[in-house]
Amino acid sequence: MERILVTGATGNVGLSTVKFLLDREMPDVEVVAAVRDLKQAGSNPLLANARLVNFEFDEPDTYAAALQGVTKLLLIRPNQVSDVSKHIFPFLDQVEKSGIRHIVFVSIIGAERSKVFANHRIEAHLKKMSIPHTIVRPSLYMQNLLWLHGQEIRQNDKIYIPAGAGMVNYIDARDVARVVVKLLTEPGYEGKEFELTGDEPMDFYTIAHLFTRELGREIRYARPLTIKFIRQKLREKKSMPFIVTLSLLYGSARNGKMAHVSEDFNRLLGSAPNSLANFIHEYRSFWGK
Ligand SMILES: NC(=O)c1ccc[n+]([C@@H]2O[C@H](COP(=O)([O-])OP(=O)(O)OC[C@H]3O[C@@H](n4cnc5c(N)ncnc54)[C@H](OP(=O)(O)O)[C@@H]3O)[C@@H](O)[C@H]2O)c1
Repeated sequence: MERILVTGATGNVGLSTVKFLLDREMPDVEVVAAVRDLKQAGSNPLLANARLVNFEFDEPDTYAAALQGVTKLLLIRPNQVSDVSKHIFPFLDQVEKSGIRHIVFVSIIGAERSKVFANHRIEAHLKKMSIPHTIVRPSLYMQNLLWLHGQEIRQNDKIYIPAGAGMVNYIDARDVARVVVKLLTEPGYEGKEFELTGDEPMDFYTIAHLFTRELGREIRYARPLTIKFIRQKLREKKSMPFIVTLSLLYGSARNGKMAHVSEDFNRLLGSAPNSLANFIHEYRSFWGK
């Protein structure tokens, strides 16, 4: 019997991972969704057949019950949890003492090269642990265009992102979850690392054009300077770690470090990842007026 614990189970990749694992109806696999709000999670139809457990990285009292009987772990660091020494490493210390035999960690593209990413420190920590792990490093999620920038697109008809003329290669978080499910349920991926990107890098002028074509009204790429972007997000009362993370990521894009195309998705799943044009088409009503 496998018991798979999914952290970040209400988030972009975690929620789809839980759903896809449950869809497989594997009789010998129990899926445990680690959530902060049991009541709210209980009303989410995508989590209906999962076992729910209360879990918070910053509440060590929740670790033991969540880890009970777990054999595999999907580790996702919430962006809000930036002090990893204080809130992630103590959890991993408990994991080390548990019966877990394999950890899959969702990191981020470029984290292995850049110490500024909190995920870099988690990757380094995992390498010191005795439990085998697999790292996936996705590029930016298409879902950011819903949850982070969707309101700006819907209300103001503009993409407000400080990426200059740099390119990004968005991936659908559901595609990341498809890979994660494979890594968690099939043998042979321990000790491996994968980079997950879309297969067509684009600058935000091109992305704005995709929106314009799909929505039938002009969507403009505003191309703010980073300092203007930071001021705007402060006015919107966004948290400092959130603003810093976004500024770093879009700074990487501006400097040409997000345009990379990886073949790993194709190699693992034998098909192409979702395209941004398809994604915008699927969610077009979200940005509708
Ligand atoms: N977004 C991207 O473009 C992107 C791309 C590549 C990699 N990543 C990486 O993916 C990770 C997650 O980022 P995301 O933007 O996709 O977020 P997300 O998965 O959509 O949301 C974070 C998840 O963590 C949960 N959570 C928040 N605070 C928690 C806490 N203190 N203890 C336990 N769980 C908590 C949230 O639960 P609630 O529902 O209770 O808030 C939610 O399920 C980050 O490490 C990021 O670097 C993100």
